[in-house]
Amino acid sequence: MTGGAADGTTRGVALVTGAGSGIGRATARRLAADGWPIVLVDRDGGRLKDTVDGIGAPVLEHLVCDLTAPSAIQDEIAAVVDRLPVGLLVNNAGVGFRATAGATTDEQWDTTLALNLTAVFRLCRLVLPGMIQRQRGCIVNIASAGGLVGLRQRAAYCASKAGVIGLTRALAADHAADGVRVNAIAPGTVDTEWVERMLADDPDAPGTRRMMEQRQLDGRMGTPDEVAAGVSFLAGPDGRFANGSVLVLDSGLTAV
Ligand SMILES: NC(=O)c1ccc[n+]([C@@H]2O[C@H](COP(=O)([O-])OP(=O)(O)OC[C@H]3O[C@@H](n4cnc5c(N)ncnc54)[C@H](O)[C@@H]3O)[C@@H](O)[C@H]2O)c1
Repeated sequence: MTGGAADGTTRGVALVTGAGSGIGRATARRLAADGWPIVLVDRDGGRLKDTVDGIGAPVLEHLVCDLTAPSAIQDEIAAVVDRLPVGLLVNNAGVGFRATAGATTDEQWDTTLALNLTAVFRLCRLVLPGMIQRQRGCIVNIASAGGLVGLRQRAAYCASKAGVIGLTRALAADHAADGVRVNAIAPGTVDTEWVERMLADDPDAPGTRRMMEQRQLDGRMGTPDEVAAGVSFLAGPDGRFANGSVLVLDSGLTAV
């Protein structure tokens, strides 16, 4: 499907966070191919530049900012939202680490919640007035299978992603009448640098990787493109009946 004018005057522009890597990069590529004018955000300028250079379509703007810093959303992203009609927000940037609750420090808890949940809330709050005014908009929050079930050694992460799912549903309920749809995707384990980081201090990294693959019914990790396809569906006309939904893309991780 093709998009509107290059400045996004028809259905607006798509803003994707965490676009410097993995699922965010694949989502940026997919939405550009779908015809969305795109704005990309990441805290890692070098990696974001690689995404922009490799996308094969013009990127309207790319912003290097740390979404946990209050000024990033209040000032830098707010300035973009003032200039451009954001019709699609993909809240993808996220962090995670392995620890039980007992082994989680206050700082780890705060950092995880600040990005995975508070920044998602603040970005939704920022773009909603424009969407409501235009009576049209779509938000896709990248949650996790860990927001639906308890995963071992992911206490803060699971709490943050369950919060994202609750926020998604509440926003859908509040804003359906405004023409805004809000959905989440709950991916299983997807082969990105994230996984490499999780395995970095694992004394049996190959064994843990095999376990992560085998707990999914296809016996493999998902690809970033498979999650990006879900974003494309939810954001496009075929996804119009989805609101307050959690699209589970996990090859059965949470089903069996
Ligand atoms: N990979 C998986 O197995 C998996 C599974 C379920 C859900 N998810 C979710 O998908 C999303 C993307 O994961 P991924 O695997 O592509 O991760 P990734 O680590 O490959 O990419 C995350 C991106 O977010 C950026 N980022 C991190 N902190 C930031 C901050 N404070 N401000 C701005 N940008 C920041 C990073 O620079 C990076 O480019 C995350 O929300 C994650 O929780 C991933």
